[in-house]
Amino acid sequence: MAITITFLQQLPLAATRVTRRQQSFYLAIAGDTPAATVQNMCGIVGYVGRAQATPILLDGLRRLEYRGYDSAGLAVVQRGRLETRKCAGRIAALAKLVRKEPVSGSLGVSHTRWATHGKVNDQNAHPHFDASGKLALVHNGVIENYQALKEELIRDGDTNFRSETDTEVLAHLIGKLYDDSCASTVDAPGKKARLFDAVRTALRQVIGTYGIALVHADVPDFMIGARRGSPLVLGVGKGENFLASDVSAIVAYTRDAVYLNDFDVVAAGTDKFEITSLAGDSTEHPVSKVEFTAEDVRKGDFPHYMLKEIFEQPNTVRDAMRGRLNHEECTARLGGLNMVAPQLRDVGRIVLTGCGTALHAGRVGEYLIERLANIPTEVDYASEFRHRNTPMTSETLVFAISQSGETADTLGALRESRRKGFRTLGICNNVASTIARESDGGVYMHAGPEIGVAATKSFTSQLVILTLLGLLFGRMRNLSAAEGSRVIEALEALPQQVEAVLDLNDQIKAIAKKYANANGFLFFGRQFNYPIALEGALKMKEITYLFAEGHPSAELKHGIIALIRSDLPSVFIAPDDSVFSKNLNNIEQVKARKGPIIALTSGNCAKHLKEIANEIVVLPEALDYVMPILTAVPLQLLAYHLAAQLGRDVDKPRNLAKSVTVE
Ligand code: AGP
Repeated sequence: MAITITFLQQLPLAATRVTRRQQSFYLAIAGDTPAATVQNMCGIVGYVGRAQATPILLDGLRRLEYRGYDSAGLAVVQRGRLETRKCAGRIAALAKLVRKEPVSGSLGVSHTRWATHGKVNDQNAHPHFDASGKLALVHNGVIENYQALKEELIRDGDTNFRSETDTEVLAHLIGKLYDDSCASTVDAPGKKARLFDAVRTALRQVIGTYGIALVHADVPDFMIGARRGSPLVLGVGKGENFLASDVSAIVAYTRDAVYLNDFDVVAAGTDKFEITSLAGDSTEHPVSKVEFTAEDVRKGDFPHYMLKEIFEQPNTVRDAMRGRLNHEECTARLGGLNMVAPQLRDVGRIVLTGCGTALHAGRVGEYLIERLANIPTEVDYASEFRHRNTPMTSETLVFAISQSGETADTLGALRESRRKGFRTLGICNNVASTIARESDGGVYMHAGPEIGVAATKSFTSQLVILTLLGLLFGRMRNLSAAEGSRVIEALEALPQQVEAVLDLNDQIKAIAKKYANANGFLFFGRQFNYPIALEGALKMKEITYLFAEGHPSAELKHGIIALIRSDLPSVFIAPDDSVFSKNLNNIEQVKARKGPIIALTSGNCAKHLKEIANEIVVLPEALDYVMPILTAVPLQLLAYHLAAQLGRDVDKPRNLAKSVTVE
């Protein structure tokens, strides 16, 4: 059942004409199981201007589709009243609903919801409304004290709740504050000011996180947004303004953006906007130019964003080091760290933190920084680090690694680390992200928008940056100029070498086809390539839904070897390096137990694998520091082709979201 709701502006809700279909909506939600629904990783798009809002709202939602969602909805002010369409399922279903029952008007909000708990159904889809049905609100985040707020509203006589969601409570609270303040006749500007006030007053009572956008049928050229913990950006257009949870939703319409900070509240009309604090004080914000264009977020001729992004890596790897190599002094130039030489020299310990793929990059970073700079380096899951009382010394430097710059756990780790007084830097792709803005400095990846949920190009960019960091710190310590220069040469050779790896695409596709019926995959590697085994397994799990595990090769004999069987291929990352012969022993152990072997190797080592491995992928030779960048790419391709072969939704794998803004 999809939902179409029309709220009449002039009548109190009790007197509103409600169609039978609408009635069934109210009845359905009245009987819904009480459960706080948590909306996170969701998409928000809002529009105020002179164009038709609906196509812009739908288009914006489609551009956020890659982030993952399970339901979608929109509300538009049409001739002085709210028109709403919402349903569980894909944006295509919402678009169909809109085609069947069109909505016209130049002010509206829309939302894609990604449930983390609470039912996925039409009722829980956003927008939600206030008691009068004149205010529509979309929300990302969690109102933690929604029960207490609701009880108070009920005590005050509000019995008109249509759902059990936390979002609806916020809508009711704002609506009540607004209605109370408009008890006497107020003109149009007065209504705007009172709505703006009502939003601030309500949000001051909220405990929790939110990114919100709302419209009210009383003020048909006025939209309000606010954030705390969930990103929100204002797109500044000519005669129109936009709100979005991610700038990629609106970049086709404007590249002028104002990134809101926590506790900002913005009111936008067609030609102007105002931003205040929760207390109501006006705040100044720069209008920034969005770095990328709408073209950058298109698939082009590729069947999936993930494949496009894998193939972008020769360029993104180059972009990650562009302007950062100092040939003369055989070191790296990373001005964004905002640290002068004595401070960099004083660093006595490094902590690298992040989640998922970013954490795996950190694990490579640990090997890199220890080898190149001899600085004790530690890697920790952001979710663990932030709650752990790890002993830190004053010379500790913390790096939060995050493509999106919005991952809640990584942001939490960054804030905790700063709270304790440690210099905390970011390695981010999204330049306007919260992590980028809240860190003491950092390094941008410059990889361009990454749309596929499975991180690919951001990973190799992170590896380039970590190599640059190792080089910079190393050259301030005991790394010789000759060794520094070898690292630079190795980095500079990478774009071409990545091209050469991509030329192996057909071979890897054929391997994927051959093993499409496998029951899962094991991944093994040593030293710099142990984290690549973890990353290879993560890619495989995420998009093929097959069982996959990554381990240091030597761990095989400590238990994993019990898993070996003929339908469980082992992928060995065994390039020509100082641990090849050790890897070879482990490969023999699998072979002896009839486990199929797919080997990634390089140089002369291929000949040692001829009689043992079922498949051999020969990669270009490179220094072991940069080899993980070359070994990661075929594993991305392997997971991609397998997923495509199995008919998986490669760019939007089930249950996953691109940016995880819940803890
Ligand atoms: C990677 O393929 C995953 N989608 C996921 O593990 C991701 O790397 C993780 O959620 C961290 O995201 P971030 O880099 O945006 O912080």
